[in-house]
Amino acid sequence: MSEVAVGFAKENGERFVEELKELLRIPSVSTAPEHVGDVRAAAEFVKVGLETAGMENVRLIETSTKTRKGHPLVYAEWLHAAGKPTVLLYGHYDVQPAEPLDEWKSPPFEPEIRDGNIYARGAVDDKGQMWMHVKALESLLKTDGKLPVNVRVIVEGEEEVGGEGIAAFVREHGDQLKADAALVSDTEMFAPELPTLCVGLRGMIYTELEAKGAATDLHSGMYGGAAPNPFVALAQMIAQLKREDGHIAIPGFYDGIEEPTKAELEAWRSLPFDEEEYRKHEVGSTELTGETMFSVLERTWSRPTMDVHGMPGGFIGAGAKTVIPAKATAKISFRLVPGMKPEETFAKYKKFVEEICPKGIQVKVTMIHSGEPIVVSTDNEYVRAATDAMAKVFGKETVFVRGGGSIPIVGDFVRELGTPTVMMGFGLPDDNLHAPNEKFHLANFHRGIESIVRFLDGVGAGR
Ligand code: BES
Ligand code: MN
Ligand code: MN
Repeated sequence: MSEVAVGFAKENGERFVEELKELLRIPSVSTAPEHVGDVRAAAEFVKVGLETAGMENVRLIETSTKTRKGHPLVYAEWLHAAGKPTVLLYGHYDVQPAEPLDEWKSPPFEPEIRDGNIYARGAVDDKGQMWMHVKALESLLKTDGKLPVNVRVIVEGEEEVGGEGIAAFVREHGDQLKADAALVSDTEMFAPELPTLCVGLRGMIYTELEAKGAATDLHSGMYGGAAPNPFVALAQMIAQLKREDGHIAIPGFYDGIEEPTKAELEAWRSLPFDEEEYRKHEVGSTELTGETMFSVLERTWSRPTMDVHGMPGGFIGAGAKTVIPAKATAKISFRLVPGMKPEETFAKYKKFVEEICPKGIQVKVTMIHSGEPIVVSTDNEYVRAATDAMAKVFGKETVFVRGGGSIPIVGDFVRELGTPTVMMGFGLPDDNLHAPNEKFHLANFHRGIESIVRFLDGVGAGR
């Protein structure tokens, strides 16, 4: 059965890419208020895609949070495989902002194929990978008239801003997403040609730290030396949050964190990883930083950390302006690992910055969004169906890795819904997620579709 569907996917592969290009032309940047219409247009596009595939009960589900109307979820189902398991397919159609635009070789929302890669914002994260799900369903339904398992699909438009809308939906209407297993394709392969399942994600808190000094902006010659400077204050506070050796200095920050098992660490050590190659070609810096007593994989997968994303405020135009700004902000996030709770970490951080706040400065800390860390089980029939499927497609054994990134809703699938989740992603380490020149290797787009077809078939066959 899957051979025919795989054949269909191969014959229609070019059309699938053309459709993906159309979706990539829609600038569905979820964080940008000016793009609300585009975000909705992307949701509509996905809805039509699911209808065309032959899915049923396809609809947009509106979301809202305390402060704003949210972006819609797209839902679809096909529930006629009596006696078979139900699989929940998850993806997101929203993307991160594309700036800085002048770093892109081709414009972010004008997809271009070069050297077997499709370049655009969202190519791999996650429009391309989400589209693989839709096209796998189409390939099965158009050739066999049915699916090997029951399927529900949920695609969100707020993953890149914390996923509050889908979290509320899961809390209030979790029964509508009831499934025996979830499949998420929003992660990476460890290396080209190496089939990979991601079995853990870091959680996060994303915050703004605002420092206020004088009542108004001041002439820095007239007042410099006597008036507090909010940027200097932020720099001093940030420097105290993270020591030079990568250690986070917030009291109690590391309390209760769960270490990876010996077996997991052992497995990580046998992954094909060349630190020097990673430094030079992936990171492109003169040195790697952080807690050097931990390996790079541990530092990015199983250790918490802190980063600063931007510091809005003051004068950032061309040229010079001699001003002491009245206020300044730093966008600061922490990545969390199992054993850490977002609210608790936030409380410790807030208390600490209030204590270390320099004289003459008022600090305000706000949480923008948060998500819990998660480690999923590797010992179940769904994981085996995934590794069997990828063995057929790649001719290789699957490696198990964790991801340093976050997908907030995955923790809720596992904890709230009790749904075992398989994270089978097809991105590559150099796909430039969230950065200029994001790409998706087209061979992996096609292999992803084939893997999903075979996975669903395998689950249906009870293998
Ligand atoms: N797909 C990524 C997460 C990811 C990337 C997991 C690579 C594993 C490997 C996701 O779209 C993402 O970027 N999430 C955000 C989280 C969000 C709350 C802003 C992230 O990790 O920064
Ligand atoms: Mn993603
Ligand atoms: Mn992302």
